[in-house]
Parts: sequence; structure tokens; C-alpha cells
Amino acid sequence: MKTVVIPVDPGAPSASALAEAARVLRGGGLVAFPTETVYGLGANALDTSAVARIFAAKGRPANNPLIVHISDMTQVQQVAAEWPPSAARLAERFWPGPLTLVLPKRDTVPDIVTAQGPTVAVRVPAHPIAQALIRTTGLPIAAPSANRSTELSPTRAEHVLRGLEARIEMVLDGGPTTGGIESTVLDLTTTPPRLLRPGLIRVAELESVIGPVTQVRSLPIAAQDGPQPLPSPGMLPRHYAPRTPLECVKAGRELERLAQLLAEKRRVGWVAFADRGEVIIPSGVHLRVLPSDTVGYAAHLYAVLHELDAAGLDRLLVTLPPDSDEWLAVRDRLRRAAAI
Ligand code: TXA
Ligand code: MG
Repeated sequence: MKTVVIPVDPGAPSASALAEAARVLRGGGLVAFPTETVYGLGANALDTSAVARIFAAKGRPANNPLIVHISDMTQVQQVAAEWPPSAARLAERFWPGPLTLVLPKRDTVPDIVTAQGPTVAVRVPAHPIAQALIRTTGLPIAAPSANRSTELSPTRAEHVLRGLEARIEMVLDGGPTTGGIESTVLDLTTTPPRLLRPGLIRVAELESVIGPVTQVRSLPIAAQDGPQPLPSPGMLPRHYAPRTPLECVKAGRELERLAQLLAEKRRVGWVAFADRGEVIIPSGVHLRVLPSDTVGYAAHLYAVLHELDAAGLDRLLVTLPPDSDEWLAVRDRLRRAAAI
């Protein structure tokens, strides 16, 4: 299959591009599109065989449920069986935006979408192309990140092609995404609600709207292979990983580790923090510097990792950001990217 790439201006998405993409989706095909977090790989959420193609294209285990994307709150009742007051308050505050809510599912949602489980994850994306695509199609769109399972998420159309070229019908190329890491996933079927995946919306922001939220620790590695749906596959130890082995290093210890790797004749990339002051970079190290604020860091992290991953290196070192709540989501992605 040839993957068609259509450039689309996020400021004024062309009606003909949207109509073409909607035609593919209604016909059971797969279309990758930008959201404000990362690119998603969309299919008609109500079509079992279209959704099955998402799992095949990504090489995704069947026990990983998908997020269903809708264009606004009025579409919620198509997919969720309940809409508790906490959901209404969160949606009011954060939708459209990078927050995914897990709710009891309606029978109309095929079991394949929810990995046979009783709940459905729902989000209203803020990106104008995602919004326009869902509206034009008139359907709820199931969309995981548009990458092969366990690999780096895509923040540009070229990242999508790197993993999925010839496996999907179409990519809407709306340029780089702005958020850069995936949405926050919150389970509202438990009391108190549980954070299943940290993301761009922070725990403190959620708690300011609905009160205390519990956080779940990573599952043990053995839990990956079970037949039952996972509480959240974003919790798998290995995820979001470049193909090049990645290692996290505490700030201040990088030069020592670089020296060791260079002595072993390894070709090394280093993702550093902008505020580290003057350091003398050993020659031969592929250095990338990320902003020291969380928003700027998240926006560029995957693009930098994709770029270094394509450079044919032996090892990627990443300086760990501070161990504080505002860095929770970034540290979570880095920890999983480093897991073997
Ligand atoms: O920002 C995002 O969320 C992007 C864009 C495309 O929307 N999507 C994304 O999807 O990251 P994916 O499939 O890569 O991650 C979906 C996360 C997984 O951690 C999965 O466990 C969780 O959502 N999830 C989906 N359905 C669930 C459910 N019914 N119960 C619990 N967790 C669920
Ligand atoms: Mg993903």
C-alpha cells in the first residue's frame, strides 16, 4: 500500500483534504493526523475491522485499549455510559485539550477498542486539524499514537512515516505538534480517581478541580503478557523508546559517563539541559540541548530523540530533569524509554 501524505495548514485546513481523509476513515481505512500532543493513528471507532487494522499496523498487543477521540462534549454519550459530575467539571476546564478520561463504556463501542474491558478512554483534542477531521467524518475516532508499538511517539509527519509507511492509507501533515508528549490519562471509574498516565496536564491541576487523585505505580514486567486488559498500557515498563539504547544520567554525572563510553569507542548522543552552564563537550559526542522549562522540553523531546535515533549511534545519554511534580510526565517517558 502506498501511504499518501497530504500537507494541511493547521490555520485553515483545506476542505478537500479533510473530505479525502474522511472518505478513507468511513471506508475502514487508517489516517494519521496531528493532535496538540502527538500524531494519532485514526480509524472509525465503531468499525471493528478498521480498529483491528490499527492493532496490526502498530504491532500493538490486543490487551492495550485505545483512546476514542470526539469533537466535543455532546458526542460523549455516543461512547460513554455515564458522565459523572467530576467528568463534567474536568471537561469544562480542560477540553478541548490533552486530558483523557476513562469512563464506563457504552455497548456501541466495539470490545476491540477497549481491549474487552468495561471502560472507554475519551478525549477531545484541541488541534484544529484533529477537530476538523472528527467533525467532517462525523464519527468517534479511535487513535493511539501513530508509531509502532513500544517505539517513540511521532511529533511530525516524517516520524509517522518512519514507523508506518506503507502500513496506512494516509497522513495529514500539519507540521510539528506543539505539546510534544501524550495526554494525561485519568480513570474516573474509581474513588478517588486514578492517574494512569502522567501528561501535559499536571496532577495538581486535576486536584484543583476534583480533589485528591491517586497515582499508580508501574506494573511489574511480567504483567505485560497477561491476557487481561492492562489498567493502562502506558504503564508498561518499556515504551516510548528509540531503537538506539538510551540511558538516563543524573545531572552532574554526564561527563564521567560520556568519558567511559568514549573510552569504549562508542558513538554517543547526549540530550542535555539548557541551564547547565559552560561545560566542555568531549569531541565526537552528538549534543542536543533541550529547554529547561517543562513545556519547551516536552515540545522538543521526541523530535530530538527521533533525530539522534536516526544518526546511527551506539548509545543515547539523557540528563534526568529534577524529581518534582512538574517534571513527572517527562521523567515517566524517559524512564520507560530507558527500560530494556
Ligand atoms: O495524547 C494522546 O493521548 C495521544 C493522541 C493521539 O491523542 N494518544 C495516545 O494513545 O497516546 P496511546 O494509545 O499511545 O496511549 C493510550 C493510553 C494508553 O496508556 C492506554 O493504556 C490508555 O490510554 N487507555 C486507553 N483506553 C483505556 C482504558 N479503557 N482504560 C485505561 N487506560 C486506557
Ligand atoms: Mg502510544
